Amino acid sequence: MKIAVFSSKPSTETFLNRANKAHGHELCFLEARLTPETVSLADGFGAVCIFVNDMANKAILRRLKELGVSIIALRCAGYNNVDLKAAHELGLCVCRVPAYSPYAVAEHTVGLMLALNRKIHRAHARVRESNFSLEGLLGFDMHGRTVGIVGTGKIGAITAGILKGFGMELLAYDPNENPDIVAMGGKYVPLPKLFERSDIVSLHCPLLPSTYHLINGAAVAQMKDGVMLVNTSRGALIDTVCAIEGLKSGKIGYLGLDVYEEEADLFFEDLSNEVIQDDIFARLLTFPNVIVTGHQAYYTETALNNISDTTLGNVTAYEKDKTCANSVFLDKVKG
Ligand code: NAI
Repeated sequence: MKIAVFSSKPSTETFLNRANKAHGHELCFLEARLTPETVSLADGFGAVCIFVNDMANKAILRRLKELGVSIIALRCAGYNNVDLKAAHELGLCVCRVPAYSPYAVAEHTVGLMLALNRKIHRAHARVRESNFSLEGLLGFDMHGRTVGIVGTGKIGAITAGILKGFGMELLAYDPNENPDIVAMGGKYVPLPKLFERSDIVSLHCPLLPSTYHLINGAAVAQMKDGVMLVNTSRGALIDTVCAIEGLKSGKIGYLGLDVYEEEADLFFEDLSNEVIQDDIFARLLTFPNVIVTGHQAYYTETALNNISDTTLGNVTAYEKDKTCANSVFLDKVKG
């Protein structure tokens, strides 16, 4: 099938081309994000392949349908950027990659914890300037400390397993308890108890209306003084203004973020020659005890291979059977 690949980066092209050897689709790589201005680029294509910041609202989907597109292949797990109701009404198939490597995200999460604790980002900068002083670089043993995992699905459970290997005590909160957590010695507790008792709080639940700003001023107040907070899930789980207040007062001792609530205007682009207009984000970058990465937790070779193979497999299955196991509608029906 002819596929227009929007928001394409060099790595998108490399991995999709590699996976396409087994599928034989005709791929056209477009740097542009899918927007009302760029939708006409899909003219003549049967499929569009899109990513997290591409727009697929009702008007764009209608236009895609007019242009001859029949399948929207998301090369990510989330589909909050697609108007599913409109897609359904238009008879467009929407498919996604439900899981590509929970290990990638869990390992990045632990990487942020280690870097924050042992101040590796600052140590690296110092040594490059021949400053070998250790003052200000004091860390703590994670062994024997308590980590609170919020959301114990695939990524949360793998993170918990790695940290259990470090000898940490495990607390967890999730409306759906995962027996693997209990089997590894973890204890489910109510959220306020988790906040109160954890040295490190790590977020792994989805962004839902009920989890929007889960970490607000009241939640921060319940946490231990000097707590480490890590979010590799979705930016809007944290009210960033409250996190900044927590950092200023010292209540939050360390903050590690791979996601940010207003990231759509920043992440995935090289803005190094521009002036950042987001003052809240700019303030975050001034703290010595904050590390921000630009939504890169998923970005491993394993994950990109899996994403590419599943994405193209979804299009192949649709071309053959006019349906696909990773269709978002099927997912919803299955619950
Ligand atoms: P999952 O669906 O396996 O697990 C999510 C868990 O959160 C489930 O067990 C669910 O019961 C739980 N949950 C739902 N509401 C909750 C609440 N109010 N409080 C606590 N837990 C709640 O999802 P998975 O694969 O583990 O992914 C977790 C999150 O990681 C995703 O929602 C996504 O936002 C994020 N993610 C981030 C990536 C990155 O590159 N930074 C890449 C992939 C996913």
